Amino acid sequence: MLLAQRPIQLVEAERDMMRRACAFNAQVMDFIRPEVKPGVTTESIDDLVNQYTRDHGHVPTQFNYVVGEETYRKNTCISVNDVICHGIPGPYVLQEGDIVNVDLTTTVDGWIGDQSETFMIGEVSDEARGVVQCSFDAMWAAIDAITPGCRIATIGKSITKLARDRGYSVVREFVGHGVGRKFHQEPSIPHYATPESYRQRLLPGMTFTIEPMINVGTRHGDVDKEDGWTVRTKDGKLSAQFEHTILMTEDGPEAMTQTKDGPRRGHQF
Ligand code: MF3
Ligand code: CO
Ligand code: CO
Repeated sequence: MLLAQRPIQLVEAERDMMRRACAFNAQVMDFIRPEVKPGVTTESIDDLVNQYTRDHGHVPTQFNYVVGEETYRKNTCISVNDVICHGIPGPYVLQEGDIVNVDLTTTVDGWIGDQSETFMIGEVSDEARGVVQCSFDAMWAAIDAITPGCRIATIGKSITKLARDRGYSVVREFVGHGVGRKFHQEPSIPHYATPESYRQRLLPGMTFTIEPMINVGTRHGDVDKEDGWTVRTKDGKLSAQFEHTILMTEDGPEAMTQTKDGPRRGHQF
């Protein structure tokens, strides 16, 4: 008989391994931060991440990662404008006005940190700034709302409330996830409330991501038929995302992937 897998709860030594992986992943984000600028190809950012990670003796987790039938051949996901997620780095040159999500994942001594930020390239439209701000605030609203032993639905409820209040939609096809020695593991962390998320609880020692994808228009997206990865909004409108890896402790959540130079909780873009 198959039993539902119980989400893993880490002891202190294991939590420290996750803290180290997440701190390094955040260091990579700070390393590429000055390079996310007009005139730069998304592929060159990917190359820099690969180089820096390997120079430090670590591994970009997304390289050769398999989902279903598809194998991912880059080290990062870089999702520009109407791309919801899983944008493949390539020859596209970043331009003033773009919003660009860079999603980084690193394996450090067998433990995995996963995070993303949406960058604004130069001056952007009010619409672009608004959706970036909403995805950042939605992630932090969820982090602020969760407590040890709370239902996973706490996350989805706080994110959908904030997005709805500001007139944005929340993507459902892609969700947060448990992360640890495996990239994607139990529990699933939907950014909207589901029956399953009401049944499951966030217990001390659990590590997982919160990574809301917020859209200006429809919540629905399409996977690119040619490359099998890139997910674009169906209406071509903008999408933004932020992601942290979180440890639930006995005292509350700890966002382990916080950077030194990036936007902190409460930041106004
Ligand atoms: N980093 C993404 C996440 O946050 C997953 C990317 S899967 C890949 O879950 F295969 F595209 F790398
Ligand atoms: Co993730
Ligand atoms: Co990620």
